[in-house]
Amino acid sequence: MMILAVPGFPGNQTSLNPVGPGASHIEFEFSLIFWITCAVYCIVLLGLVIAVARRRHSLETIPEPLATNEPTERLTRRSVTAAVAVTVVLLFIMLIGSFQTGRALGDMNQEDALPIEIYGHQWWWEVRYPNNEAYKIVETANEIHVPVGVPIRFSGTSRDVIHSFWAPNVSGKRDLLPGYKAEFVWQVDQPGRWRGQCAEYCGLQHAHMSFEIVAETKEQFAEWLSNQAKSSVQPSTPQATRGQQVFMTHACVLCHSIRGTSAGSRNGPDLTHLASRATIAAGTLPNTVGNLGGWILNAQSIKPGCRMPPNQLSGSELQDLLAYLETLK
Ligand code: CUA
Repeated sequence: MMILAVPGFPGNQTSLNPVGPGASHIEFEFSLIFWITCAVYCIVLLGLVIAVARRRHSLETIPEPLATNEPTERLTRRSVTAAVAVTVVLLFIMLIGSFQTGRALGDMNQEDALPIEIYGHQWWWEVRYPNNEAYKIVETANEIHVPVGVPIRFSGTSRDVIHSFWAPNVSGKRDLLPGYKAEFVWQVDQPGRWRGQCAEYCGLQHAHMSFEIVAETKEQFAEWLSNQAKSSVQPSTPQATRGQQVFMTHACVLCHSIRGTSAGSRNGPDLTHLASRATIAAGTLPNTVGNLGGWILNAQSIKPGCRMPPNQLSGSELQDLLAYLETLK
């Protein structure tokens, strides 16, 4: 298993640490509203404390006749008018801020952006890097590698129910609806692994539908992409050869594809470069041999309700299969 040595840490997910222009615009809008409402809250509380203190003080003295209260009433009227005016101004400032943020996010659309296709599934993410030359098309799952500082044009939809694509550090969430294509531009300016997750309840395993945006230098990204575009490595040991046979003669082949073999089903994630991914089951488990073995035998005990059925394999069949899958770098 390979984990890229780039800054950032797994599990990092906060919209208060923007790593791209999209999240920065949103964070600015959030801060604007937060600090305005914070100031209003403090001023109102201060007003309340002063009013209570004054009232207590005035109760200790003899109440004055009504007629002499006129200046106080005028002051009250003025204060209320001023408060209403300030409220209207503050609401307009927030409205304009919100409008500007929306426009800034819309202006990010760039024609020369790198296209990446996202498909939401119950409960994982299919990721596709389109190319005019069919043999260069890359398909992977749950790990979205992107070059730093380059606008990415995501084109997203769902294969089943409504999902929502959200990586708070990078940008706001976008709903992915079946039969409808959502187009949006994101950009990551800081190398690292930025966690994202499905943000629309989509069934039993909604909580285990995460993904990672892996932002790397242009060189690292180009290297990754060219490796992913390759067909799977052919087994070079007897055990891996037996493992490949296990794959082809059991249920695996009915749902998964491994480019360079006759396995071409697209119900489940593409496994051509499975061993290069950091996690399995949409970020549910680290991609270790042990976890993978447990997942293959009984995924239902790990992620109940998922589409992966339990598999009856003998000990040696499982060992051979794992040996083969581990070569798929
Ligand atoms: Cu997909 Cu929630």
